[in-house]
Amino acid sequence: MSKRDVSKPLSTNPNLLKWVHKMADLTKPSAIHWVDGSQQEYDGLCALMVASGTFIKLNEQLWPGCFYARSDPGDVARVEDRTFICSLSKDNAGPTNNWVDPFEMRKKLKGLFSGCMAGRTMYVLPYSMGPVGSPMAQIGVELTDSPYVVANMRIMARIGLPVFKEIDKAEKRVVPCLHSVGAPLAPGQKDVVWPCNPDKYIVHFPETREIWSYGSGYGGNALLGKKCFALRIASNMARDEGWMAEHMLILGVENPQGEKTYVAAAFPSACGKTNFAMMIPPKAFAGWKVWTVGDDIAWIKPDANGRLHAINPEAGFFGVAPGTSVKTNPNAMAALAKNTIFTNVALTPEGGVWWEGMTDTPPAECTDWQGKPWTPALAKEKGAKAAHPNARFTAPASQCPTIDPDWEKPEGVPISAFIFGGRRATTMPLVYQAFNWSAGVYTGATMGSEMTAAAAGTIGKVRRDPFAMLPFCGYHMGDYFRHWIKMQRSLSETPRIFHVNWFRKDADGKFIWPGFGENMRVLKWIVDRARGRALGKETPIGWQPRYEDLEWKDLEFTKERFDALQAFDRNAWRAEVIGHEELFIDLHDHLPKELVYERELLICRM
Ligand code: OXD
Ligand code: MN
Repeated sequence: MSKRDVSKPLSTNPNLLKWVHKMADLTKPSAIHWVDGSQQEYDGLCALMVASGTFIKLNEQLWPGCFYARSDPGDVARVEDRTFICSLSKDNAGPTNNWVDPFEMRKKLKGLFSGCMAGRTMYVLPYSMGPVGSPMAQIGVELTDSPYVVANMRIMARIGLPVFKEIDKAEKRVVPCLHSVGAPLAPGQKDVVWPCNPDKYIVHFPETREIWSYGSGYGGNALLGKKCFALRIASNMARDEGWMAEHMLILGVENPQGEKTYVAAAFPSACGKTNFAMMIPPKAFAGWKVWTVGDDIAWIKPDANGRLHAINPEAGFFGVAPGTSVKTNPNAMAALAKNTIFTNVALTPEGGVWWEGMTDTPPAECTDWQGKPWTPALAKEKGAKAAHPNARFTAPASQCPTIDPDWEKPEGVPISAFIFGGRRATTMPLVYQAFNWSAGVYTGATMGSEMTAAAAGTIGKVRRDPFAMLPFCGYHMGDYFRHWIKMQRSLSETPRIFHVNWFRKDADGKFIWPGFGENMRVLKWIVDRARGRALGKETPIGWQPRYEDLEWKDLEFTKERFDALQAFDRNAWRAEVIGHEELFIDLHDHLPKELVYERELLICRM
């Protein structure tokens, strides 16, 4: 290699060394930095970014250890239309993924990455998804030219020396991840605050378990351990190896007797997943606790006794800031109070942060996520948002007051129930339990959520988002359903499967259910059903609690209102089942027979 400033390699693994050199020869960085993951290194990177303008240090008194970043206005979210699953055969990627021939894509990427790190440092960032050394953990190495990515990944995953040690043992396959912001610097060229490229490629090669990401420095496009590895690549590994990589939160419910029951839940975005994961039970539930294991991703595997166990492969929360407050989620607010990186929120004159929904009274003035002056008057007049709707906090999970004492247990926590949910103004009751595993898989496969104003499309139209995995399943969705069906065969104890809907509305368009902490009443019924000690009544869609089966202490909620919330509307369900067909037609040639029959049964019961 030429006159490159190279820090001492921190691994002796010959394959890793060879690959790093090969990628450096392709991308031509001016320096290579092997990431040890230390606090000192983190402080140094933050200081570097403060000097370059990428980071602003927040007021240490108000926000200790916190930094603030503004992205390029064109690099604010995951780019699903630029995300590719390049399996050898198009059929393997299925109709829900973008596919390009892998040979063609490699050619394209080689061109894009050629010299793309010029003038920048390439960081060799080793990371473990899952506690280091856990039998359920997986290892990746991200080569990136973004110090912002390194800093965020130090919060979101376990990184550095202990991971190099694992790599040197050469016991586990390492997922190679190449990331560049796609903004090479000519000699003497001044850098911008947020380098990126308008042309973006987020590419997965499932057979070779590789990730190549180009052009974006933001979130799921760039922190490659999260969606790219822990969901898209891991879903492929999981199918091949008999486990599950799911877009699910994990929480534990502890009753006053100290009995703990864990559930995993999948919801599409904008359905309150993080709030649910960190829920505070209402006063009527004195002595009950909800513990947080994870808020976004679950890796789930049968143990030697055939019982499903789950780990949260992540170490931090990459949460949406707007709407988060001490009222909606005090635990998230506590988690992000220190040592957090904020991106695209607003900056207050005191050196603090603010976003819509954080406080009832907005600050008198601040600078918005694009650095422009913002006042409540401007917001009223022009509808200007202080924070971008997808503004994020990157906060250590260990700082969450409800983090489960067992959240880093290498073997994971036992899962007793799965919960699926969506945002549905009609049709879907507050809660029902699927009759059995295959009926539950049907429920997950057909779940959907009404589109909100935030996404393009017809407001109110139901978008099907099977298992909340539509943008994250790294292979054919029909085969993924089949994998779910097959998983049950390896289990001695089958978790029960439930569907919830906190968002049903009455004839006046008002939410019927209060939600938030009151969801504990539903969660208790779920736990009791999973443990075989709660009653319910059989309906055409599954088992539903009767009024007397839920705890109503301290909540005024009449039986009539509950009946409206739980009503099975035959006509609405007919339309619902016809709606399922749309998805099934797309997937028909890979659909497991069980789901075809479940659909028939559902139609018959109607
Ligand atoms: C996320 C997402 O960022 O699901 O977690 O989009
Ligand atoms: Mn998510």
